[in-house]
Amino acid sequence: KIIVLDFGSQYNQLITRRIRELGVFSELYSHKISIEEIKKIAPKGIIFSGGPLSVYGEGAFSIDPEIFELGIPILGICYGMQLMAHSLGGKVEKADNSEYGKAIIDITKPDSLLIQDLPKHQQVWMSHGDLVTKVPEGFDIVATSKACPISIMQNINKNFYAVQFHPEVQHSEYGTDMLKKFTFDICQCKGDWSMENFIDIEIQKIRETVGDKKVLLALSGGVDSSVVGVLLQKAIGDQLTCIFVDHGLLRKGEAEQVMESLGGKFGLNIIKVDAQKRFLEKLKGISDPEQKRKIIGNEFIYLFDDEAAKLDGIEFLAQGTLYTDVIESGTDTAEVIKSHHNVGGLPEDMTFKLIEPLNTLFKDEVRALGTELGMPDSIVWRQPFPGPGLGIRVLGEVTEEKLHIVRESDAILREEIAKAGLDRDIWQYFTVLPGIRSVGVMGDGRTYDYTIGIRAITSVDGMTADFARIDWDILQKISVRIVNEVEHVNRIVYDVTSKPPATVEWE
Ligand code: XMP
Repeated sequence: KIIVLDFGSQYNQLITRRIRELGVFSELYSHKISIEEIKKIAPKGIIFSGGPLSVYGEGAFSIDPEIFELGIPILGICYGMQLMAHSLGGKVEKADNSEYGKAIIDITKPDSLLIQDLPKHQQVWMSHGDLVTKVPEGFDIVATSKACPISIMQNINKNFYAVQFHPEVQHSEYGTDMLKKFTFDICQCKGDWSMENFIDIEIQKIRETVGDKKVLLALSGGVDSSVVGVLLQKAIGDQLTCIFVDHGLLRKGEAEQVMESLGGKFGLNIIKVDAQKRFLEKLKGISDPEQKRKIIGNEFIYLFDDEAAKLDGIEFLAQGTLYTDVIESGTDTAEVIKSHHNVGGLPEDMTFKLIEPLNTLFKDEVRALGTELGMPDSIVWRQPFPGPGLGIRVLGEVTEEKLHIVRESDAILREEIAKAGLDRDIWQYFTVLPGIRSVGVMGDGRTYDYTIGIRAITSVDGMTADFARIDWDILQKISVRIVNEVEHVNRIVYDVTSKPPATVEWE
């Protein structure tokens, strides 16, 4: 295993991911990790991540110098390089000009293990305000660039390597090759890690953490909480209790699927709270989107609390937090929290310990994990779905009739998108019901009925989005089916705005 020490770079998550892609397990640890802990982990290599600070500045993150005596290969990246230089007697200074973006480096020592057989000139991605101006004793310069004369340095006797650029980002042309060379040629890792190993390791960890205590999980039916549920079930079986609140704002067949698949096939112990009527009641007469969100959120917490309070002896709360959600170094498997910080609204005096078994993974890795656990594509490849559900896809006041129209039209859309083989290409797709009605003609009669909007977007993270270029013929098929099969719909429109200026959801 290779450990990455976190010095605050926005890219540090990517480093561990790149290493895992090479088939070697890698995890992020706080830079405050003690030498004792490192010895216990016994990594084959250590990477210092980048970071926003200056090594000579106030409050700079430092490292116990004993780390350089462990005999473990180290790769410093950006701040990590400066830290290595600074700690070992080199010199780090402010760059004349901060350098951000693409740069070309020239290799001056082509036999270095880190870049052997790679092109002599190559593009890298720089992002720094400081640079190393003098290498520590025992170090050589391996590559230079115009703005950064010491772009790569090494101490081959100690197996220390450092790069000023970011090999983990795609703009560094041969970055992955360098990480590969560090991992295999320098650290001598084997590359036999896979999701299967991850499952074994995690199950072991969960059992050690939980012991014979009980764990509670709020199941939403989404990918993350479902995968956590199945993983925990494998690890601790009946010590896990899940609460699934059906607020009646789910898509067609969703609640049934959760109960049948997770409760049935996977044997999760699920308490299902049927609260459809209750939510509709609370939403009566409310048309403001934010108010609807608040009501749905509060009601959800209220019901969850209520069920949780009926249970005895729960010590842990499991959450499907992903790597991308972890702000601080999130490698501790359990830490005591005031649960209301996480779940919101739980009674103040109720303290759970938190378990977050997915907090080292990215979304696509969670999907791979789900597949490895034998979960069906319908759960593993579920598209993002907002907590307030169809409650924000019926614009304005939510009524049972309108929910029915959205639910049925959405089911047709999903079916046709899947048939066309587009379900993994389009990031999110759904129907909405704006309150408008318009005139149409069906059979021989005039109709005055609802319009359905189709929203389908491509995106990487939901922060920005573009409307999906769905083939006209497919759209036509969807349109015809919805109008024919869903009562009170006589017109279909396709949303051709991107985000910004629009948002993904209509409310
Ligand atoms: P917007 O509409 O903000 O959506 O462009 C971006 C992503 O977030 C989802 N979304 C929500 N998710 N609660 C959620 O859990 C919400 O209130 C909410 N509103 C939007 C949306 O589906 C999209 O994936």
